[in-house]
Amino acid sequence: MDMLNPLPMTGVLDCIDEEGADVVTGILNARARRLLLEETEMLTWRTSLSVIDHSKVQQDYKVVTHFHSDSLFRTLADELLLRLTLLFAESPVPFQSDRLFRFNELRVQRYRAGSRGISPHRDQGCCKILIALFVLEDGGRFGLCDSRIGVEPVSPRILDAPAGSLILMKAPGFKGQQGLAAQPMHFVDSVTRQRTTFGLRYIG
Ligand SMILES: [Fe+2]
Repeated sequence: MDMLNPLPMTGVLDCIDEEGADVVTGILNARARRLLLEETEMLTWRTSLSVIDHSKVQQDYKVVTHFHSDSLFRTLADELLLRLTLLFAESPVPFQSDRLFRFNELRVQRYRAGSRGISPHRDQGCCKILIALFVLEDGGRFGLCDSRIGVEPVSPRILDAPAGSLILMKAPGFKGQQGLAAQPMHFVDSVTRQRTTFGLRYIG
């Protein structure tokens, strides 16, 4: 089953390099999105911790981290990996350890209407090269920011990522980059309607 539309992704890696993240709008086809949302009705959800102790990051969502071997979420992960492998191959700058790159952590997250979202944070440094986030339901806003004061983002930059979009964000190892420069700070807020996302990470 083709879940991804054959959109060109030219320039995406350069934009991620400069901005920290980019959005590929309309890459997930409508039928796939509908079937994925249907599958979420049968998944086993657990509630996130409301505060991550050491960082004081506040988060308010439900999450699924286990998927059957025949899950459509796994099919989508395989399709995206193939697409990204082709994209990496086009890059004039080789990706370190790109032959190892794979998605070994899959998470579906659901923010109910009225959720506090997730306050500005950086994903853990063990997430390598690229973090992918499909927007299945687009309630709320996803943004990048420079830093935070309490739970408030400093210099927020909201990404326009409607349902069916793919957000790609850099992580350590992206074009050889390391440290905080390769871990953009980001957040979810203004969840006035339900938001559901499918996140894919390479824990290396
Ligand atoms: Fe995150």
